[in-house]
Amino acid sequence: MVLQHLLHGRHDPAAPGAIGRARAYAAVTAVAFAGRRRSTYGRLVRLGGARPGDRVLDVGCGTGYLTDLLARAVAPGGTATGLDPAPAMVDYARRHVRAPGCTFTEGVAEELPYEDGAFDLVITSLAFHHVPEDRRERALTEMHRVLRPGGRLVIADFRPPRRGPARHLVGATAGAVMRDNRTDRLAALIDAAGFHHRDAGRLFPLLHWERATKPARDAS
Ligand SMILES: C[S@@+](CC[C@H](N)C(=O)[O-])C[C@H]1O[C@@H](n2cnc3c(N)ncnc32)[C@H](O)[C@@H]1O
Repeated sequence: MVLQHLLHGRHDPAAPGAIGRARAYAAVTAVAFAGRRRSTYGRLVRLGGARPGDRVLDVGCGTGYLTDLLARAVAPGGTATGLDPAPAMVDYARRHVRAPGCTFTEGVAEELPYEDGAFDLVITSLAFHHVPEDRRERALTEMHRVLRPGGRLVIADFRPPRRGPARHLVGATAGAVMRDNRTDRLAALIDAAGFHHRDAGRLFPLLHWERATKPARDAS
């Protein structure tokens, strides 16, 4: 579990999946996407339908790479807010992301520090498997709460290889949380939180995405 030790740093019981080593994470992702990070994350921005004037929340924003692209897509007039429990990530993002309308806050997905209906789009990439399993329902309920009626949700997460040496390699380097990540359970969780599930797909290198909307007239 080399990567886990390299990236996570000090354990935080309030956010056990927090990644405290921002510079190491930035270096690892630059390599892992093999030069295709920009196009992969650009695709996520388009999947979310981010457009000028939108208010967007990036949950588990890490170094702010996606938040930056989102801020550019929602300009002029929009805002992109990145949220992450790791102070080192938030600090890194604040120092490196320069796009206008971009802000970063410390916090966890399962307790979002925003008002009901504050966002048009909530998006999260490679972060959902870091939320402890027994808090994932709560995290989705929170995402639903902070979206306006008719707002959009995009969850992109790591899709581990099903078998073979690649699966063992993921377990040995990144640990069981990534090796055993069940992206096939996301759709049911999304439905249970009150979203209308729309579609799902795959992206390079090993990403699974789900897309949903909050009903325009919320029954709750
Ligand atoms: C693998 S990184 C992904 C960062 C970024 N979204 C990206 O795509 O590069 C996962 C991020 O999720 C954050 N995280 C861990 N637990 C979390 C939680 N409960 N709520 C929100 N974010 C969390 C970590 O601190 C880390 O920055």
